[in-house]
Amino acid sequence: MERILIADFGSQYTQLIARRLREMNVYCEIFPFNKVPSPDSEVKGLILSGSPASVRDANAPQIDLTEFLGKLPVLGICYGAQYLAQTHGGEVLPSPSREYGRAILTVEAEDDPLFRNIDHTTQVWMSHGDTIQRLPENSRLLASTSDVRNAAFRFVNMPVWAIQFHPEVYHSTQGSTLLFNFIVGICGCSQDWTPANFVEHTVAYLKETIGDDNVILGLSGGVDSSVAAILLKQAIGDRLHCIFVDSGLLRHNEFEDVMASYRNLGLNVKGVDASARFFADLKGVSEPEEKRKIIGRDFVETFNEAASQISNARWLAQGTIYPDVVESASVAGPAAKIKSHHNVGGLPEKMHLKVIEPLRLLFKDEVRRVGVSLGMPDSLIGRHPFPGPGLAIRIIGDVTPEKVSILQQVDKIFIDNLRSAGLYNKVWQAGAILLPIQSVGVMGDERTYERCVALRAVTSVDGMTADWVHLPYDFLADTSNEIINKVKGVNRVVYDISSKPPATIEWE
Ligand code: XMP
Repeated sequence: MERILIADFGSQYTQLIARRLREMNVYCEIFPFNKVPSPDSEVKGLILSGSPASVRDANAPQIDLTEFLGKLPVLGICYGAQYLAQTHGGEVLPSPSREYGRAILTVEAEDDPLFRNIDHTTQVWMSHGDTIQRLPENSRLLASTSDVRNAAFRFVNMPVWAIQFHPEVYHSTQGSTLLFNFIVGICGCSQDWTPANFVEHTVAYLKETIGDDNVILGLSGGVDSSVAAILLKQAIGDRLHCIFVDSGLLRHNEFEDVMASYRNLGLNVKGVDASARFFADLKGVSEPEEKRKIIGRDFVETFNEAASQISNARWLAQGTIYPDVVESASVAGPAAKIKSHHNVGGLPEKMHLKVIEPLRLLFKDEVRRVGVSLGMPDSLIGRHPFPGPGLAIRIIGDVTPEKVSILQQVDKIFIDNLRSAGLYNKVWQAGAILLPIQSVGVMGDERTYERCVALRAVTSVDGMTADWVHLPYDFLADTSNEIINKVKGVNRVVYDISSKPPATIEWE
């Protein structure tokens, strides 16, 4: 597939570069700076990312560019630009102060293809501690800001460009145009990375790789596993065997509803009701990590038992997506640690199956677009993310069927109301939390002493950071009333107004 390579030096923005390129229907892949493969004829160019490191550090990340320089277009961003300068006779020194934030770039070389259709002055985003004091040999200055004279330059004897600012960040208002100029204007990419194209390639790849074997896939009701299932179904039909485990910790009626959607889509799916097992093992357990471990283990065992009844299976399919793949390979990703506890690990090792991951190249929004192009219903594609351990980590304290039932009723009212108010699709994720306290209330003439629930709704791009949603007061008032009137055992509702960080999305 025609593509751009991105060498990752550990910048927090590297994935954003990839997203911008993909948004322009150009396929790209991120590699750690020391694992960039040799280019083949489908590689159209290379981008060097930023980095928290300084090129002046003794152990600064180094990359061997012999196979690229002079042969393919190269664009260095921030650290990448400084690296190109320093390794070609330029000089990089510490900035008098760290430059962070918006700056106005003045383009000096408007004839340069990198700055085509970009205004003479334009806002860019800076984030660097070093500055390129002297340009490398054989180079030409293209643009400056008031603080950074050498903000953009190019080599005159080969197709190499370097920019100090971050075009991938939204605050660089014409950053996408600049990236477009590089990947389409300069590298000549044909913008054919579309969902339909992805489906065609992937289905062909799955057919060829899997051959006549059987494949097992765990469905969760979520977007990723559902889209993976439809792709596999197109490739191998009923040799795809799906398993959907009911832990008893799903939302109200979710198991039945999702099973029905899966059947409508023609999937060969086996539902396993293991709720009794999960409840028995969770009895009396309050500690969050302990709950997660028990649920993970029960899930693996239940899945294994169901899978062992499928003969001739050689593959285990998983709905892994690109951010997980990149995080695990990344140079300096603290992000990887934050997320690790989310994964129900150990499945492939236990099952002695080969792993196949049809979505491992896609970002979440791309998974959704692929789902749409596969004709999947919005009820599956537009679903909010839901944690693997389910409502168990939204019940603070020990988990009982009675508490799950209360929380399911509260959650249903909240989610149904979000839908009917047209707010569901504006929220990234929403749910309710059952708190381990009781408080005093009055109902009619009676004094009550009952439970309290918290509502949580956040906006986010990828779950790594999140903001609480400013839901309208009227909406909150109506929802609170309805919950207290209809759900027996609840007499108080609060709304969570914490952002992540420092809070997390889930309470446990
Ligand atoms: P936090 O609470 O870490 O959540 O801000 C970020 C995203 O991850 C989901 N989440 C989980 N997903 N297993 C999962 O599969 C887990 O143990 C888990 N914990 C949190 C959470 O719902 C949010 O979308």
